[in-house]
Amino acid sequence: MYCTRKVTQTVFWVGGCDRRLALFENLFPIPRGITYNSYLILDQKTALIDTVDSSISRQFFENILHTLDGRPLDYLVVNHMEPDHCANIEELMLRFPSMKVVGNAKTIGLIQQFYAFDLEDRTVIVKERDTLSLGEHTLRFYFTPMVHWPEVMMTYEESEHLLFSADAFGSFGALSGNLFNDEVRFEQDWLADARRYYGNIVGKYGPQVQNALKKLSGLDIRVICPLHGVVWRSDLVWLLDKYDRWSRYEPEEKAVALLYASMYGDTENAVNILAGALAEGGVKSITVYDVSSTHVSTLISEVFRCSHLVLAMPTYNNGVYPAMLNFLHDMKALNLQNRTVGLIENGSWAPAAGKQTMDLLSELKDISVLKPVVTIKSSLKNDGMAALMQLKDSILASLSQNA
Ligand code: FEO
Repeated sequence: MYCTRKVTQTVFWVGGCDRRLALFENLFPIPRGITYNSYLILDQKTALIDTVDSSISRQFFENILHTLDGRPLDYLVVNHMEPDHCANIEELMLRFPSMKVVGNAKTIGLIQQFYAFDLEDRTVIVKERDTLSLGEHTLRFYFTPMVHWPEVMMTYEESEHLLFSADAFGSFGALSGNLFNDEVRFEQDWLADARRYYGNIVGKYGPQVQNALKKLSGLDIRVICPLHGVVWRSDLVWLLDKYDRWSRYEPEEKAVALLYASMYGDTENAVNILAGALAEGGVKSITVYDVSSTHVSTLISEVFRCSHLVLAMPTYNNGVYPAMLNFLHDMKALNLQNRTVGLIENGSWAPAAGKQTMDLLSELKDISVLKPVVTIKSSLKNDGMAALMQLKDSILASLSQNA
């Protein structure tokens, strides 16, 4: 049975949710599921904006057939050719033989890479800012490459001021009936997943997101319709500010996250003592994560949020403990920068993790490492405790700057 919602009187949400998938991209845990959004515009011509993942194809076709109510589908706009959105192109072409696929030259190339069906006479290839009239509605296409793939474009509907934003402004999480941001407690229930989605999926491409924000800044956008998560029809300034900060790698908050690896609890002990001392020093909302038991996507999300990080780890095989090393590599891959970092290393006979972590951090932009780097030999003793309190003082002093 169909399950749709109205975005406006003539634009319909025809997407769906998957709560069975454990790992998005076979990589990221999604305990709250995932939404694949697709939008159908009814006018003199009908146009579908993107399709959905193959896991929800049955629901998707029930939705569009109900919404079309016997009318043909004239256009499929492909803003993004990643398979979580484009899995149903061939089936749409078969069901609607007069339907044209609208995309740019790169879109068409990717369709041909992924699929084998014949596109002859079935495409409308658009260039930057070209328009497509549906009657009352006019679509204008803005190319936003690498947000998140090279072919990505956004589609602006001029009469109702809707921006179909592809992956941008999306989130992990399945919708629960409520489609719009003003129908949910976004900061409480969605922001962490939206940040984790941004940081891990789009985070590497901050400069490209900045380019997109500049390109779109002159538009009168009243509703943002992303491919994942809620539709935005209020608080757009708040949302755009989050994207602006994240894409400039500016910390979202002045906050401290302590991220540790610990084999037998001794490094963890030092982190707990430091966290308590910071709290005594007035720091609120401190977060502590065990990198061995926390998915790296959550750690990355915390790096996007927090201004100050403490990384603590044992030396392992004369190097950085593997779970921490993986986290550090992910930080570099995602282009993270502009953070203040405290370091605690542990090593029973030849501590090496601190220096090697410093070397890895030096490959990131604008990372400031606080002094001292605390060295623990097996477990914290008085000399290590003194260094730990010096690090606490350095963190407090750094936090108080530009307070
Ligand atoms: Fe939701 Fe880049 O695909």
